[in-house]
Amino acid sequence: MQHPPRDRWATRTAFILAAIGSAVGLGNIWRFPHVAFGAGGGAFLIPYFIALLTAGIPLLMLEYGLGHRMQAASPAAMARVSRKFEFSGWWAAAGGLLITFYYTIIMAWVCFYIVELLGSLGGDSLPWQKGQAESYLFSSVITGDENIRHEAGLFSPINWKAIIFNGLVWGFIYFAIRKGVHSVGKVVWVTVLLPYVLLFVLFFTSINLDGASAGMSYYLSPDWSKMDSPGEILKVASAAYGQIFFSLSIGFGIMMAYASFLPKKSDIANNAIITAFANSGTEFFAGFITFSVLGFLALNKGLFVGDVVGESSFALALISYPTAIENIQIGTDGQILFGLAFFGSLLLLGVDSAFSLTEAMVAGIHDKFSVSRKTVTVSLCVLGWLVGIIFCTPTGLVLLDSVDHYLSNYGLLLIGLIPCLAIGWIYGTKRLRTHINRVSEKRITPFWDFCIRYFTPIVLIFLLGYQAFTDLSFLWDEQAKPYSGYSLWVQLVGIGVLVAAFTLALFLTKKKPEKEGYQTIPEFEYEP
Ligand code: PHE
Repeated sequence: MQHPPRDRWATRTAFILAAIGSAVGLGNIWRFPHVAFGAGGGAFLIPYFIALLTAGIPLLMLEYGLGHRMQAASPAAMARVSRKFEFSGWWAAAGGLLITFYYTIIMAWVCFYIVELLGSLGGDSLPWQKGQAESYLFSSVITGDENIRHEAGLFSPINWKAIIFNGLVWGFIYFAIRKGVHSVGKVVWVTVLLPYVLLFVLFFTSINLDGASAGMSYYLSPDWSKMDSPGEILKVASAAYGQIFFSLSIGFGIMMAYASFLPKKSDIANNAIITAFANSGTEFFAGFITFSVLGFLALNKGLFVGDVVGESSFALALISYPTAIENIQIGTDGQILFGLAFFGSLLLLGVDSAFSLTEAMVAGIHDKFSVSRKTVTVSLCVLGWLVGIIFCTPTGLVLLDSVDHYLSNYGLLLIGLIPCLAIGWIYGTKRLRTHINRVSEKRITPFWDFCIRYFTPIVLIFLLGYQAFTDLSFLWDEQAKPYSGYSLWVQLVGIGVLVAAFTLALFLTKKKPEKEGYQTIPEFEYEP
């Protein structure tokens, strides 16, 4: 069977930057510090590192290796392992696409902050200084108008500003992926490298704040009491594995899609290690910024660092940061610039994760059907923008949180499990490892086979069970509540999205391939 020539990354660096861009996102800046803090600070780094070595890197190698060997994004790559698995490849891509639908809304809110900050330059106060950062977030940013909070209904009024900003974000996603790896390979030089410049600015400003050292020592000092019973250890382990999966963007077929555009001779093993360490390094580093800021905030409010952290990671970024910025003694313009560096880095870090998710689906559709890249990309971007409207309403935040909970806890783990089983038990880990070793400089050992066949699937099944147990405990424990105490219909929307991804995947699987050789494993000529 003839396989058409595939697009290729211009350079290895372009690929690595794109992979890092996908991995490094909001999860590194606001999720990691929050999870680490809740799970024992410095002590958390141990289970986190174990999770990185036993699941993060092995799975990343699997995704890179399979995408590269099969020369296809996840649906076709899985179909080439066995027809039975094509569905799981689509499910991954569909789940990823649905994540983008709300991930971009957060980006839209971040745009709102940026525009308002720019508008305050030269003035004498920050946009949120009239009230507090918290009421500003809920009344202005999320609803789009500071006057409507109280009379807000369930779905109206609509936040037009968020819809417009969301349109801009989707416009940028289109721009970034319109020519596949050719355009992605260029855009990532800015979206991946520029945020590091901003992060360094934030780092040097925040570590010099009063109270920063207290915050940092809080971040790093191990709190072993969070791990002193088997139940606690399970909780921390589950947080560690959950963070690694989310943060490395594995399980949604992105890394398979990206790796399928690598040239024949590509160092798969090293690329995976570089991506994984760059990602973890970034979150570890970001922790110093966040905790310095929290230490400063605690000192300012006369509170203990632990008491200013708040319930959700979301509040950490959008309430704690703005509050802290308001108190830094660097003049209003200095504060605005600090705010711009913070929100600017969030925007840039998030947008390349968002377009990688979209690209996984675009590449999947393009592998199977004879539609042009442009048509697929435009359609998905418009669809994403339209679906996003439901999050631009007063209930948007709650819906977004519920959808995120179910997709990133169940979707990610469930969907990530299937490739392990498919490679571990059908295709053969040794067969894929041989491929990886023939193209890579670094050789991976049978320990990898062990992780993929046994260890990672067991951990994933366990995490799923643990999560379900926690979410369902309201059935037998009167004190427990369904996720976040939200009402039934909000929970159903969250769960419904998983079902929607499932249905979309079923539909795409059932359609006949329009391209030749869709299910056949391509020949691979190894260079001597
Ligand atoms: N890894 C991204 C982050 O840390 C989030 C993400 C998850 C992106 C899953 C794609 C897929 O923010």
